[in-house]
Amino acid sequence: MDYDVKDMGLADQGKLKIEWAEATMPVLRLIRKRFEREQPFKGIRATACLHVTTETANLMKTLKAGGADVRLCASNPLSTQDDVAAALVRHEGIPTFAVKGEDNKTYYRHIESAIAHKPHLSMDDGADVVSHLHSKRKDLLRNVIGGTEETTTGVIRLRSMAEKKVLKFPVISVNDADTKHMFDNRYGTGQSTMDGIVRATNRLVCGSTLVVAGYGWCGRGIATRVRGMGANVIVTEIDPLKGLEAVMDGFRVMPMDEAAPLGDFFCHSHRQLEGYSRRALCGHEGRGNRLQFRTLQCRAGHSCTGKAQQEKTRRALGCGPIHLEERPSRQPLGRRSSREPSHR
Ligand SMILES: NC(=O)c1ccc[n+]([C@@H]2O[C@H](COP(=O)([O-])OP(=O)(O)OC[C@H]3O[C@@H](n4cnc5c(N)ncnc54)[C@H](O)[C@@H]3O)[C@@H](O)[C@H]2O)c1
Repeated sequence: MDYDVKDMGLADQGKLKIEWAEATMPVLRLIRKRFEREQPFKGIRATACLHVTTETANLMKTLKAGGADVRLCASNPLSTQDDVAAALVRHEGIPTFAVKGEDNKTYYRHIESAIAHKPHLSMDDGADVVSHLHSKRKDLLRNVIGGTEETTTGVIRLRSMAEKKVLKFPVISVNDADTKHMFDNRYGTGQSTMDGIVRATNRLVCGSTLVVAGYGWCGRGIATRVRGMGANVIVTEIDPLKGLEAVMDGFRVMPMDEAAPLGDFFCHSHRQLEGYSRRALCGHEGRGNRLQFRTLQCRAGHSCTGKAQQEKTRRALGCGPIHLEERPSRQPLGRRSSREPSHR
């Protein structure tokens, strides 16, 4: 079997973790039982480019139980759990191509390996497989029946492709499901973002000021969680209605220019870090650096929880603003260098 994981010696540890997650996924367990009987994916090849975590592992097991030939690569190199990747290979027989911290070249090599079985279905978290198929492997497009896309930013990229009439197959926006954005984005990202900040910095959150840029589904979750931990929360928004909602929810709302000197932590829950926010925070346009000593900046999501970020944070301590996210945000297809992966 074709695969690329860090260390097969981690497989047994990964299996235990997958089972632990499975214990709290009763709906998926029921679906798996049904799939075993009905075999709805018999003869179907599916390529998944998702966070290689215990939850995804259970999804892969379920698709395989339904008859699918699945291959998996990582949608974000920093969220990959190497033990889970090894367990999928050894214990589930699922070709997996993911190594935590992999560089850009390996990231795209892994996408290539994952689509090598000529998929009928694509499953994306950020639209990188769809993008790769449309730009680099057009020869495979004719096999593809359709796909799924998990996240807000991926959906934005796909809608842009659909508007330009270049999207060659239908893609279901998982993010549009109420059970996704109302729960995963709000509660999941709300918790994991704070978990990442606390693990990476070991700082006491209560009494500090956290600026949340964007009061969408993720932003609401982060703001609520961090208020519960005793922090002062400031929200910035470009949509006046969302800004008003934040006011009604009891948060201070102001432009980033005003929030920049006040915050200890800055968390971006939108995809435009490179534009408005960075300019305001870092004081381009000759205003000097607006961030205080040891201010911490991160982008929401799994990316905050990586050990690489923790190490980077430690290295950065004492030398000004600390960024927990250094990777580019997703852009609509065509506005991004083909060599830049677009992890969330
Ligand atoms: N890592 C994860 O687990 C995870 C999960 C879900 C979503 N995401 C990502 O998080 C980001 C936010 O997702 P969401 O579902 O909350 O999106 P959303 O569309 O619900 O919210 C984004 C909000 O940001 C606001 N905004 C946009 N530009 C802004 C700016 N310059 N300054 C201030 N506010 C601005 C928008 O008006 C909107 O209210 C996306 O990039 C998404 O892909 C990550």
